[in-house]
Amino acid sequence: MSDWLNQVFCEDALSGLARIPDASVDLILTDPPYNLGKDYGNDSDQRSVADYLAWTEQWIDTALPKLTANGSLYIFLTWRFSPEIFVMLKKRLTMMNEIIWDRRVPSMGGSVRSFTSVHDTVGFFVKRKDYYFDLDAIRIPYDAETKKARSRSIFVGAKWLELGYNPKDLWSVSRLHREHPERADHPTQKPLEIIERIVKASCPPGGVVLDPFLGSGTTAVAAKRCGRNYVGFELNPDYCAVIEQRLVAVDNPARPYVRPKVEKRPRASKKAAPAAGGAVEQGENFELI
Ligand SMILES: C[S@@+](CC[C@H](N)C(=O)[O-])C[C@H]1O[C@@H](n2cnc3c(N)ncnc32)[C@H](O)[C@@H]1O
Repeated sequence: MSDWLNQVFCEDALSGLARIPDASVDLILTDPPYNLGKDYGNDSDQRSVADYLAWTEQWIDTALPKLTANGSLYIFLTWRFSPEIFVMLKKRLTMMNEIIWDRRVPSMGGSVRSFTSVHDTVGFFVKRKDYYFDLDAIRIPYDAETKKARSRSIFVGAKWLELGYNPKDLWSVSRLHREHPERADHPTQKPLEIIERIVKASCPPGGVVLDPFLGSGTTAVAAKRCGRNYVGFELNPDYCAVIEQRLVAVDNPARPYVRPKVEKRPRASKKAAPAAGGAVEQGENFELI
């Protein structure tokens, strides 16, 4: 029996990663602090740019040996630091995609000196050419109207028409607003829809997914729901409690995760990113209040 598989460790990922044997995880799927000044109950999102990039390089070098030879890594980032971090990763892995997550932020004011930012950047990297990737598991079915429009004889039996289409690299999936039933008590929780897509595409059934920065535990919940194993870390004990409740709820409908009632937080309290090249505009990495 492994002492690390399907465990969430409430500790610093940098030291905790030593618990995991090398070459034992199929997928690293992570959403680290973006360094935009968010309050995660610690100062992990409020470093100087130099410190943030040095820390990023350090955890990447600690986590990468954990990947199997045909494993993959997906990383959520802000456009502010994705150029530097993608260069870092391209020295170590092969970049397959830059996926844009369009958070479907409604139009409401925003920046007046630049274009309002409404997306997160997701880098998809692999170790080797024979990496695991199951497109059929994540195809999007065509709707009846499109299928009908393709009913001419040349399309009959076409595999792509029956199986659905490749989700492409622009994912328009709404962020989890305050009233969303999936919402947990975490400011930058990601939707299960996109995390499960990544898990199904890049981790074989029964495989292992690692997330060093679990937050509310979306990666672990997605892995469990999809029949994969998980392991991960989270610094904040309050978020660790949320993760535990969400994981219990996966196979126990009688004990659903219930988000505690929270007072609406004033948006003005947001901090700006430290020296990130301009003030952080309202709406960037949308605070999920
Ligand atoms: C962007 S959030 C992850 C959100 C997550 N994807 C979700 O859907 O809920 C990043 C998380 O990393 C945690 N964190 C920051 N530094 C850490 C460290 N050194 N080790 C473990 N967790 C850390 C923060 O407390 C925060 O909850």
